[in-house]
Amino acid sequence: MIELTVPGDKSISHRALILACLADGESQIEGLLVSADTEATASCLRALGADVPALSNGSLVVRGAVAWSPSGEVLNCANSGTTARLLTGLAVGLGLGVTVDGDSSLQRRPMDRVVYPLQAMGGQIAYSGSRDRLPITIQPRASGDLRPLRHRGRIPSAQVKSSLLLAGLASRTRVEVWEPWPSRDHTEILFAQHGAPIVKFKAERGHAARFDPDGWDGLLRPISWRVPADISSAAYLLAASLCGTHPVAIGGVGLNPTRLGLLTVLRDMGARIESTETGSAGGEPIGRLTAEPSTLRPFHIREALVPSLIDEIPLLCALATRAAGVSRLDGAAELRVKESDRIARIADNLGALGVRCEVRPDGLSVHGTEGPLAGRVETGGDHRIAMAFGVLASLPGSRIEIDDRACVAVSYPDFWSDLARLLPCAEAPVGL
Ligand code: S3P
Repeated sequence: MIELTVPGDKSISHRALILACLADGESQIEGLLVSADTEATASCLRALGADVPALSNGSLVVRGAVAWSPSGEVLNCANSGTTARLLTGLAVGLGLGVTVDGDSSLQRRPMDRVVYPLQAMGGQIAYSGSRDRLPITIQPRASGDLRPLRHRGRIPSAQVKSSLLLAGLASRTRVEVWEPWPSRDHTEILFAQHGAPIVKFKAERGHAARFDPDGWDGLLRPISWRVPADISSAAYLLAASLCGTHPVAIGGVGLNPTRLGLLTVLRDMGARIESTETGSAGGEPIGRLTAEPSTLRPFHIREALVPSLIDEIPLLCALATRAAGVSRLDGAAELRVKESDRIARIADNLGALGVRCEVRPDGLSVHGTEGPLAGRVETGGDHRIAMAFGVLASLPGSRIEIDDRACVAVSYPDFWSDLARLLPCAEAPVGL
């Protein structure tokens, strides 16, 4: 059994930094993810006046009760959708006048989903270029004079939910967000850890989270805690074990139920995977995951499961090439507006490797194949495409070239060396 560790959870790390800046005192965070995406959040928070030290996965002390700076900053969110959506909500809530921008990938991703509800709260936000796209400019205003919001989202999105809840928290305004299926609830958990009044509930109409400051003393307490390891990063190592020759064990992994769709699908595929809860960290369950080489069957992923494995779909589609039969993904149109159009990227790259697949607007079917794969993968700078195909490229017998191996720095800078512990070809790719 090879024992490995993976870095801190990306979604939780963004939220940990933001909430620590809002808290009344010093928070101590261990195990934070240090990657291009979390660096983007840290540098934007600094631009707003926060005292965020150089990021480290050791013990990071963040002083809250920030004297938020006056207006005019440009927040460069680089490649990070979570940074852009969450900090837009935060800036509106704090009444800060800022411009929010990002790299060319982020500039292609939709913003209406947060801009409309924030405008309904009274936020004054304008698109500087094309509608629905960054950059956007937020006008300064007195914090606290926003209108309460009840938002009903058509698609589940933790980024939208978190953006609106942060606008509510920062302005002490009631916000309720409804979703058809539950998206990841790290924001709600961290609000509660810091002492902010938040409730989650479920009704026929879907799932809701409500921040209601009525009767609250307004104090956000600082906390000391450890960020769970990222199940979305562990996923690649589990896959490498399933398709390789070594069993693997990964400890301290976040096992939040809203993130476990991967395990459900892998088990349906016949994967020999075990998960054991060992405790909790920052209100999140954590545990140990193990995997062993397995014979895989095809999957059928339906819409209701998609939010719980949205970031693992490129990897599952890569694994589908190693299963005997046709795997099918439905109800995943959201994949088209991620760091790349992931449905198109997966299909094009599988095609380039000689794998048959059929593409639909909201999903695709992948025909498993037996032989080793060969061809050139174009990542479009998308870290999850690079890592998903990176697993296939590192399997013995593969002759796959990945055009941009460096883009893994967005979420998992040590990906290639960690993968090489299970699949030695990962560090010395065979190429074409
Ligand atoms: C995230 C939510 C998901 C996910 C993204 C991170 C978050 O996006 O795909 O990688 O941290 O809230 P959506 O909210 O757009 O579904």
